[in-house]
Amino acid sequence: MEKSYKQLLENNKQWVADQLAIEPNYFDKLANSQNPEYLWIGCSDSRVPANIITGTNPGEMFVHRNIANMVVHSDMNMLSVLSYAVEVLKVKHIIVCGHYGCGGVLAAMGNKQIGLIDNWLRHIKDVYRYHHKELDAIKNMEQRARRFVEVNVMEQVHDLGKTSIVQNAWKNKQPLHLHGWVYDINDGLIKDLNVTFTSTKNLHSVYHLDKL
Ligand code: CO
Repeated sequence: MEKSYKQLLENNKQWVADQLAIEPNYFDKLANSQNPEYLWIGCSDSRVPANIITGTNPGEMFVHRNIANMVVHSDMNMLSVLSYAVEVLKVKHIIVCGHYGCGGVLAAMGNKQIGLIDNWLRHIKDVYRYHHKELDAIKNMEQRARRFVEVNVMEQVHDLGKTSIVQNAWKNKQPLHLHGWVYDINDGLIKDLNVTFTSTKNLHSVYHLDKL
């Protein structure tokens, strides 16, 4: 047990050596500043590592992960990450990336109590209720779960667009695109759901916020 933990530190030393062999001033450059173009909002699932599956390097992607890649508008953690990414780093793209086989989404489809996490999964159950006609009509449970993952991502993209942070960026003519993707843990490929938002016009008018 101890050995596997120590292996991580050994791996780190090896990684540093590898990077320096390629570029001797690699860390000097990275330490100066970060200028990422992307904010990634993904699932905490260990099989969906944002940088590896998108071929991005340190410094290229600001990352927020939680169970089932949720954009919960009262979550201070998510809002702080979003605010910093949009207002300070001025990222150009925000990607909500879900994944098929998501344990959080599957649990939200069921009725079994798990514990404290049930209160987090409630947000995903709300998504089911919005889309229950479409989802209930899919009789194959695996297909239903896959579609649930997709509509959950779409709702989270909507929820991003509803935030004052994103709407103010659009009002200030800051280029900012919101995207919804799903990663397939079965083949490693990412599917673009083509729910790209670039302005408030995709949102119901009740969500439009005039500037302070
Ligand atoms: Co997941």
